Amino acid sequence: MLPRRTTDDARTIADATFERACACLASVRDIVEERANGQAPPRWCEARGWTEFLRALRDDAVTVLERDGLGAHVELMADAPASLVAVAREVGRATTLPRATDASAHGVAKRRASPRKRTQVASFARLLEGLAPHASRVVDLGSGHGHLTRHLAQELGLVAEGWERDAARARVASSLVSDGNTRFVVAEARDLQGAITSADLVVGLHACGELADEAVEGAVAARASVAIVACCPQKRAGGRAPLSSTNGAPARDLTLPHAALGLANVRDGDTRVETHWADCVDSRVRRIALRRALLAAGHPVAPGEEMRGINRRRASGPLLDLVTRAFVMRGLPDPSPALVFESEREAREEHQLARRWELPRTMLARLVEVWIALDRAAFLRQSGYLTDVRELFGAEVSPRNVAVVGRPA
Ligand SMILES: C[S@@+](CC[C@H](N)C(=O)[O-])C[C@H]1O[C@@H](n2cnc3c(N)ncnc32)[C@H](O)[C@@H]1O
Repeated sequence: MLPRRTTDDARTIADATFERACACLASVRDIVEERANGQAPPRWCEARGWTEFLRALRDDAVTVLERDGLGAHVELMADAPASLVAVAREVGRATTLPRATDASAHGVAKRRASPRKRTQVASFARLLEGLAPHASRVVDLGSGHGHLTRHLAQELGLVAEGWERDAARARVASSLVSDGNTRFVVAEARDLQGAITSADLVVGLHACGELADEAVEGAVAARASVAIVACCPQKRAGGRAPLSSTNGAPARDLTLPHAALGLANVRDGDTRVETHWADCVDSRVRRIALRRALLAAGHPVAPGEEMRGINRRRASGPLLDLVTRAFVMRGLPDPSPALVFESEREAREEHQLARRWELPRTMLARLVEVWIALDRAAFLRQSGYLTDVRELFGAEVSPRNVAVVGRPA
């Protein structure tokens, strides 16, 4: 997977791929940063002359575009603005990654692991084939229930340690250990960064929030090899500054604000069955209704901020419960049923337009996700590493499937 030695050609191609993604992200940064808010079209939509095209879309066409992604159809739509088609094409090019060969979940232990998690673990193990001979220990950051940690200990014949901040998960992980090679430590990964050595192989499967960046930085500081598949970049305190730099400056200053990071966790196009799709739409309407209810109670929040501190699953339950919970968390008096009813009515109207405005922005979700991965790889190359970035498994296994691999050259 990784070239055996640094070739100027491999480095040049990787740098050019990153440059292209940087240019693409820079050109649509205003779209990434401004979510639809209310019924009015976003500024980027007006500025690019896309409003009338989106407004005129039939409801059933919007449903198809939400399901498949705007990029899948826009080239064939007669009225589509040329600039929108051009963005779709460039995003397609910038986000096309090589795909790893499929791995069978057959050899991965079944206990408490879903079939999809087992496929992820098997694919991850295969990814490490070129890295393992250089390591004597695996350090799995954010090891969760430890499926990857235990499998790597067994497959690679190395000592494997899982670092996990959630004590309950680490306990479950430990209870499933059946060899002397694996152990789990309850810790914030950054507190143990100094314990990483050049003989370690640092891994993370669905390393969320700041963890993926910390893994890459910790590995570089110790000159250790690293392999990461990240998820949920928005689970962090502020925005995300690039790790890589251009002549000492952060890469094109593509710092992404916190509100834009959640976009990287959205999937553009959805292969789920229609009933799940309808549930998603209902959840979205409930979140808009919650934002409107907060506004009516004199507590305005930016789009996406309404669910802060609340489990996303609550958006699938009754709206009155969701609004009551959000009000209690913000110290507001209980909402009246009339307020909740009116917020829902307004939300349904808003959603009809908002779902149109969201189509171009959702088309950029994969770009944000891939760009962050390419930034990590660029940082590794700038630190003297050989790198590889690829799709590790299909989106049906998990849409968070971009792997970044690095080994000191
Ligand atoms: C999405 S889960 C993935 C778990 C596991 N790697 C898997 O693939 O099943 C992310 C895990 O990372 C843990 N985590 C997140 N940030 C962490 C940090 N800074 N230090 C230690 N653990 C962390 C979370 O508690 C959670 O268990």
